Amino acid sequence: MEIMASAPGKTILFGEHAVVYGEPAIAGAVNKRATIRLRESPSDVSIFKSDDLGFEAELDTVAKRYTLKKGKPGIIKYILEILSQYHDHSPLEIDLSLDIPIGSGLGSSAAVTVSTLAALFKYQGKKFDRISIAKKAHEIESNVQGMASPLDTRVSTFGGLIYLSRDKKIAKFNTDLKTSFVIGYTSKRGNTGRMVKYVKSLKQRNPKIVNLILRAIGNITDEAKLAIAHNEEYKLGELMNINQGLLDSIGVNTNELSRMVYLARKAGASGSKITGAGGGGSIIASCPRNQDRVFKALNYYDNAIKVNFSKKGVFVN
Ligand code: PMV
Repeated sequence: MEIMASAPGKTILFGEHAVVYGEPAIAGAVNKRATIRLRESPSDVSIFKSDDLGFEAELDTVAKRYTLKKGKPGIIKYILEILSQYHDHSPLEIDLSLDIPIGSGLGSSAAVTVSTLAALFKYQGKKFDRISIAKKAHEIESNVQGMASPLDTRVSTFGGLIYLSRDKKIAKFNTDLKTSFVIGYTSKRGNTGRMVKYVKSLKQRNPKIVNLILRAIGNITDEAKLAIAHNEEYKLGELMNINQGLLDSIGVNTNELSRMVYLARKAGASGSKITGAGGGGSIIASCPRNQDRVFKALNYYDNAIKVNFSKKGVFVN
């Protein structure tokens, strides 16, 4: 019996960094996914492989160790953590297809974790619901990374575009955001922990100024919520540009990110900004028109993918 499960990546549209200090944020699932195919192993060891990532590993789920046969380790730790916690160690073969770039702030590890848990529980004939998948996936991410925001696993499990309010309540948007987007990313990974620490220290040194900036980012997010509800695509772009200026002012921008932000605008994006922690990682450009042009412009020097927000969370076949 082969089980297939698939879960989406995510992107933050507004509110990164400010959300750490209680401001609201808007994030959503995108139409780029992790797909897991899980079956009994043809040999007496568990195998985890991915043609997309060019790797293959043998897993020792009892000792929580792996032997790499090909490629780089990357995402294996998440799979090992899942199998050692939730499986009886009978040998499995797990195949991963991934169209989300790793380490670009698009939630690849959350998508892999969520889809693997769903595939495994279905394989075991266990009953499960989305709430328990989101909770367990967050625990797995926290164990592997030491710390994890529940946003990635939550968005990957449930799908859709969400607004996280100041009192930490999550609301789904009723309207579909029809705008297309382009994500641009360099090979330089962002380091979320380091960037969050940097903003904290900047805030400690300049509390009066940085508090106002974080509050302003929160206000932008609230305006964006209205713009999305009324489908005001150009307003949304303008708000992204203002947000970018504020992210720059708190020190999370880099040369590469800035170059992509301006290239996207020049190619016709209505707005562009860093998405996620910054310091590397990705930018997002909103493209009510000109998606192809923006994609080509970003893909020329760096890497780009075309994305749309998607209502589709995790599903199993
Ligand atoms: O780059 P990402 O996807 O890890 O996003 C980080 C977002 C921050 O607001 C900077 C941190 C957080 O935990 O919310």
